[in-house]
Amino acid sequence: MSGIFERVAALGVVPVIAIEDVAHAVPLADALLEGGLGIAEITFRTKAAAEVIAQLSAERPELLTGAGTLLSPEQVTAAAQAGATFGLAPGFDPAVVSAAAAAGLPFAPGVMTPSDISLATAQGCRLMKFFPAVPAGGPSMLKNISAPFAHLGLKFVPTGGVTLATVADWLALPEIAAVGGTWIARTEDMRNGDWKGIATRARAAVDRVKE
Ligand code: 3PG
Repeated sequence: MSGIFERVAALGVVPVIAIEDVAHAVPLADALLEGGLGIAEITFRTKAAAEVIAQLSAERPELLTGAGTLLSPEQVTAAAQAGATFGLAPGFDPAVVSAAAAAGLPFAPGVMTPSDISLATAQGCRLMKFFPAVPAGGPSMLKNISAPFAHLGLKFVPTGGVTLATVADWLALPEIAAVGGTWIARTEDMRNGDWKGIATRARAAVDRVKE
């Protein structure tokens, strides 16, 4: 894994963010940092994503700011130019993986089957998002589909249905680098300016990783 992904793994939890308003970028970052969670996956599910990443890279460089839901080479370029330090996607698209490699952006494609893992491995990926983690079958599914690849030292970030209550179950698997999810900072929390709630949920997640 790249040095950036080592840092992601050290943090253990990645808040998945769909942020609508650039004005919310800094308050969001400060809430996460207050909770001790210095990382955010800013997803390209909103128009604000690239601008938010650029602002956070400039104003809160201590936050490890990544880009999520990268569905096209153009979005990879936009994320890299905005200053994203890593990228993820819900699925595996060879063109997106190539664009990330060309941009020098550490990238984790999404996988849900052994075929996905094979294809991503062949293209040089070593960290993969396991999505949607819970509907796909939870920790036991990941354990089983990753077993034939164990000798390659792959690592996974499960997202999709992960909650505070299940963080520990996932992190118990040696092939898990970190878990991800939207429960820490939901779009409505940012709309409502619930920065305290975000900080509290970030802190709870950090405490769960430490346990
Ligand atoms: C993601 O893209 O990581 C998922 O949408 C997160 O799923 P969650 O809302 O169940 O955490």
